Amino acid sequence: MWRKLFGGDAEHKPPSSKEPASPGLSVPQNMLPRHIAIVMDGNGRWATAKGSSRSAGHEAGARTLKRIVRAASDMGIEVLTVYAFSTENWKRPHREIDFLLRLFDTFLKREIDEMHKENVCIRFIGRRDRFSDRFLARMEDAERRTAHNTGVHFNLAANYGSQDEIVRAVRKLATRVAEGEIRPEDIDEALFSNVLDTAGDPPVDLFIRTSGDLRLSNFLLWQSAYAELYFTETHWPDFTPEELKRAIENFAGRKRRFGGLTTEE
Ligand code: IPE
Ligand code: IPE
Ligand code: MG
Repeated sequence: MWRKLFGGDAEHKPPSSKEPASPGLSVPQNMLPRHIAIVMDGNGRWATAKGSSRSAGHEAGARTLKRIVRAASDMGIEVLTVYAFSTENWKRPHREIDFLLRLFDTFLKREIDEMHKENVCIRFIGRRDRFSDRFLARMEDAERRTAHNTGVHFNLAANYGSQDEIVRAVRKLATRVAEGEIRPEDIDEALFSNVLDTAGDPPVDLFIRTSGDLRLSNFLLWQSAYAELYFTETHWPDFTPEELKRAIENFAGRKRRFGGLTTEE
């Protein structure tokens, strides 16, 4: 089913750099973003516009997520990181938070087997201190079971805030310095990246936010230092693999300079 969305072949052979990464996608493999981050925003506005409850919007958003993970996997994307719940989202009404936590639990329970079969490697990023023991056990089980999968790395940001992640990283390094394991001058960008929750992942290449707001909302601030930004008015439940494809094609047409000059300039 996952492969069918883009008509990719079942063995998922990596195409050579000149070939399009996935049939239907006009971008060659070597021009693909390695790491895509998505702020899945607009579930509430989608629901309100339809006269439905915000909960219905979150349920529709979970269905979209399933389709997008599959599409990213079919397109040969290395890492997909999605923002499911922020450290700031605890400010929402209890009812909505309870609903979201139950939805995450059901999503994992329902989807984990299929994702595992599809070779997806799941990891959770964010703080783990406010989840129930049951949900924590489910998260850990999902991570353990899929740890050796070689398909798309799917990072689910739950109770995640970039500033919180950076502060936790600083504390880890400060502890290592205090214990004499490293010296302050050993700390560089690479070492710092490796104590973040996304340790081992390449930096974000393409940062997508749905639903029209033009802000980062505390998502992957360090990792997105040189990301290309793509904002769309589409509410998350209406975001399709087709639109992901358009975002990737748009990304492939950008000139990335990383502070330098391109060859033509
Ligand atoms: C994104 O949709 C999902 C979460 C933040 C959990 P929202 O719930 O923020 O939807 P809007 O922005 O209110 O439309
Ligand atoms: C960002 O959306 C967080 C998630 C999508 C999980 P918000 O809806 O919380 O962002 P703000 O409050 O509009 O900045
Ligand atoms: Mg929102």
